[in-house]
Amino acid sequence: MTQMPINMDHHWLPFTNNKLFHKEPQMFQKAEGVRYWTPEGREILDGSSGLFTCAAGHGRKEIAEAVYKQLLELDYSPHFQRAAPISFQLAEELSALLPDGIDRVFFGSSGSEAVDSAMKICLAYHKAKGEPQRTRFVSRAWGYHGVNLGGTSLAGMVGNRRDFSGITCDVVHMRHTWNEDQRFTKGQPDEGAHLADDLEEICKTYGGETIAAVFVEPIAGSIGTIVPPKGYLQRLRQIADKYGILLVFDEVITGFGRTGKAFASQEFGVTPDVMTMAKALTNGAVPMSAVAVKTEIQKAVIDSISADRPELMHGYTYSAHPVACAAALATLGIYRKDGLFERGAQLSPKFLDGVFSLRNLPQVHDLRGYGMISGIQLTPGETPGQKGSAVQRRLYSEGLHVKATGDAVIFAPALTTEEDDLEKMVEILQKVLGSSDL
Ligand SMILES: Cc1ncc(COP(=O)(O)O)c(C=O)c1O
Repeated sequence: MTQMPINMDHHWLPFTNNKLFHKEPQMFQKAEGVRYWTPEGREILDGSSGLFTCAAGHGRKEIAEAVYKQLLELDYSPHFQRAAPISFQLAEELSALLPDGIDRVFFGSSGSEAVDSAMKICLAYHKAKGEPQRTRFVSRAWGYHGVNLGGTSLAGMVGNRRDFSGITCDVVHMRHTWNEDQRFTKGQPDEGAHLADDLEEICKTYGGETIAAVFVEPIAGSIGTIVPPKGYLQRLRQIADKYGILLVFDEVITGFGRTGKAFASQEFGVTPDVMTMAKALTNGAVPMSAVAVKTEIQKAVIDSISADRPELMHGYTYSAHPVACAAALATLGIYRKDGLFERGAQLSPKFLDGVFSLRNLPQVHDLRGYGMISGIQLTPGETPGQKGSAVQRRLYSEGLHVKATGDAVIFAPALTTEEDDLEKMVEILQKVLGSSDL
């Protein structure tokens, strides 16, 4: 692989310690299957499917070819009072994968855009139904819903909100669902459904009639994989119904086979009113996200406007970009053809056994996992986040890429991972988490 001198001064990296990065850059230049290669040509196994994006593995030719063809046929089409047939085709195919009754799809380019769009759709719906006073949102401690202003307000990872309080909106947070007693639980914890009653308490305190929607990740991904206790999501559904609050599942990480079904909603048997998705929608190859809503939500908004104007005053230049649509259609084709959601479900027991083999290592405080996503909570370092950063960097040196958040590692390889590659990934984790000099 060619090595060129790189001037790193000008690109301000997101969610990165830029000073540290400049001292010890960790880069990828090439990817295929479940492997990256550094600019020096060193191989690195991908233990986090990129950023939970590349569920079908890297370098999928079907996607590359569809994108190339689409660029030559229709490289761009505006979607304000115009459209291209391909976006309707994608929305129809997506609807077939979604839970019954959720079949109206709005497109954006990132998970953050999907979350903020979902918030606006919830507000528009309540206004259409004659309840414009429902302007408050509920989310959960440790939740991650992207970084736009709505998502920043919903953020339960407080570090993502702290510096921006001047521009955030009205959100009340429920408690997260993790506690010490659940350490080393594989799958859903038995206890904890009662924590959903926080929503009821919030309704009593603030008035349920002031709340537009409650946003949760079915499995809290970015914080380090917190699996919902049995019955928790069902209870949230009941309370939301009781108070007329929309239930929104942010499936940006859990969508497209990560839990063993197309969506976590189906896996856990709870149907929300609104769902957000992104990442694996295009296998990460082209930015794209979607908000899917129940038929009656879209109908209520559209029917409420009689004037000659757009019903939803919201949209993006790149909403339903034809090239992203082509990438998504090719990706959905791969999931179908290769049976990848089923494959993920079949691989899950071996994957979780591998994760739980780390249990007694000196750097491990807790292990959590479901389907093809897991969280490895590290023993605390000198300062919060120091251990996570050190472990993530050491793993890269040893040949494994993972996402770390604070002192948690999120291990979630592609649904295409072969068993021998999975074993290699676990061996690297064992080596690094078994060392005492971190
Ligand atoms: C649950 C959830 N929502 C929203 C987002 C934001 O997505 P993006 O980074 O594409 O804006 C993420 C990103 O990880 C996520 O995990």
